[in-house]
Amino acid sequence: MKEMICLTINGKEYELAVAPNMTLADLLREELLLTGTKKGCELGDCGTCTVIMNGKAVNSCLVLAVQASGKEITTVEGLETDEGLHPLQEKFIENGAIQCGFCTSGMLLSAKSLLDKNPKPDETEIRTAISGNLCRCTGYQKIVESIKDASEGR
Ligand code: FES
Ligand code: FES
Repeated sequence: MKEMICLTINGKEYELAVAPNMTLADLLREELLLTGTKKGCELGDCGTCTVIMNGKAVNSCLVLAVQASGKEITTVEGLETDEGLHPLQEKFIENGAIQCGFCTSGMLLSAKSLLDKNPKPDETEIRTAISGNLCRCTGYQKIVESIKDASEGR
């Protein structure tokens, strides 16, 4: 039997009926068509499904939709504003930190969660913040540089 949940996603309130075993990742992608959130391992290992829930970066494949009830969620679709792309998005593009792009939304949200709490992180803090996000393409250096550049522009 489905359960009713209320949650805020990218500033918009939703009231939805969900199956008790539906994950937040599936709710975002399959019900709400917010497919910027990717699914890789579905085991909490790769970080491609990272979103921000009440200020904290979480693996949305490990969060049940019912556990997200009452919470505020930010996905990659919520990063751009009327003023344009988020500075992190701009720096990722400028620095060539995106290759296949599969890890990018998760990286951006882990980085945003870090910068929201710690606007001037050092390299160790940046690497720790993205340690749960796997990238098979870039070697991480350009991603780290982009997060550093975005923090310096704040
Ligand atoms: S799909 Fe969620 S951590 Fe890999
Ligand atoms: S850009 Fe391909 S996995 Fe990171």
